[in-house]
Amino acid sequence: MAVLITGGAGFIGSHTAIELINSGKEIIIVDNLCNSNINTIENIKKITNTNSIPFFEYDCCCKKNLTKIFEENEIESVIHFAGLKAVGESVEKPLKYYSNNLKSTLTLCEVMSKFNCNKLVFSSSATVYGSPKTVPIKENFPTSTTNPYGTTKLMIENILKDICLANPDFSVACLRYFNPIGAHRSGLIGEIPNGIPNNLMPYITQVAVGKLKILSVFGNDYPTHDGTGVRDYIHVVDLAKGHLNALKYIENHNGFETFNLGTGVGYSVLDIIKAFEQVNNIKIPYKIVQRRPGDIAECYADPTKSQKLLNWKATLSLEDMCHDSWNFAKLAFN
Ligand code: NAD
Ligand code: UFG
Repeated sequence: MAVLITGGAGFIGSHTAIELINSGKEIIIVDNLCNSNINTIENIKKITNTNSIPFFEYDCCCKKNLTKIFEENEIESVIHFAGLKAVGESVEKPLKYYSNNLKSTLTLCEVMSKFNCNKLVFSSSATVYGSPKTVPIKENFPTSTTNPYGTTKLMIENILKDICLANPDFSVACLRYFNPIGAHRSGLIGEIPNGIPNNLMPYITQVAVGKLKILSVFGNDYPTHDGTGVRDYIHVVDLAKGHLNALKYIENHNGFETFNLGTGVGYSVLDIIKAFEQVNNIKIPYKIVQRRPGDIAECYADPTKSQKLLNWKATLSLEDMCHDSWNFAKLAFN
């Protein structure tokens, strides 16, 4: 029996694949490589010392191809990472996002139902909390969204909730990720965004490597300890491990459940710059510019529910995140 990983060639999916293999699970990866590279599959093999990993270069929106995977393999559960995730692009091209993210999930759920596969872990996002009134954020806080990407996540959460209501055998762990950064210790896999990065850590590493000149810090007049935005950065390996705990949870619990995957600690933009500089002994030139539209002052998790129900806790430090992000970037760009 195998775990199907959709989007398994991507940033979080590839790290999760490694943790699953290391825990003795059989895995199958499906990814259309629209935001990833086939080399990642080779690197997963290298890191885990595995000869072969079943990989299908299919689009999850294609029912025929997904059906083929389920026909030819015994799949016990699915971790659904496949999706488009660039917030800015989703505002410019909403149809692309609604079409890809919704269609792939609906198709996957239809095929799972047909083959009586009832266990799903879904990649949601802290973006579904919109602008929270208070922090830390608990799972029962109100949800809202500010961009099409976030709306696809919330719509999918609601779809999955309805499927669980209609089918009492179905179980979904909906994982709301905070800000994943870092990379595998080997430096072989990590995140290389297309074009100029939107997210903080990929921008910092590209400044460090000399590809970009200077980091723009978006606003220093937020009501935070140093005026810059505060987020809950989590090492991608900690995040990946959370999926194993979520799989274990849905083996024994039916129904729909949401979980925050964050550390519970918020760091500001300046904290991150300072930590990166200290850990890696590299200066990151930066300038303060206007706030970025749509950004909120503070966003960090209350991870108590995940600690209690999933028996999961992030253990890697900000220093680990800064070290591993740089270790990957310098190998990837040099
Ligand atoms: P990623 O882009 O690195 O990985 C997603 C993978 O899905 C890519 O390899 C892409 O090629 C694949 N994919 C996209 N659409 C597909 C389709 N229709 N069929 C098959 N493959 C498809 O992104 P990631 O950072 O690894 O994120 C994984 C999931 O987690 C996404 O759903 C994302 O929205 C969610 N998430 C990410 C973050 C983050 O900051 N990275 C935060 C919250 C939630
Ligand atoms: N920032 C800068 N300069 C940059 C990039 C970011 O100052 O060049 C700041 C932002 O203003 C923010 C912080 O760094 O205060 C983090 O920004 P990111 O873009 O790295 O992350 P966000 O919190 O804005 O968003 C990320 C993902 C979303 C996801 C959200 C919550 O991009 O998809 O985390 O999980 F929804």
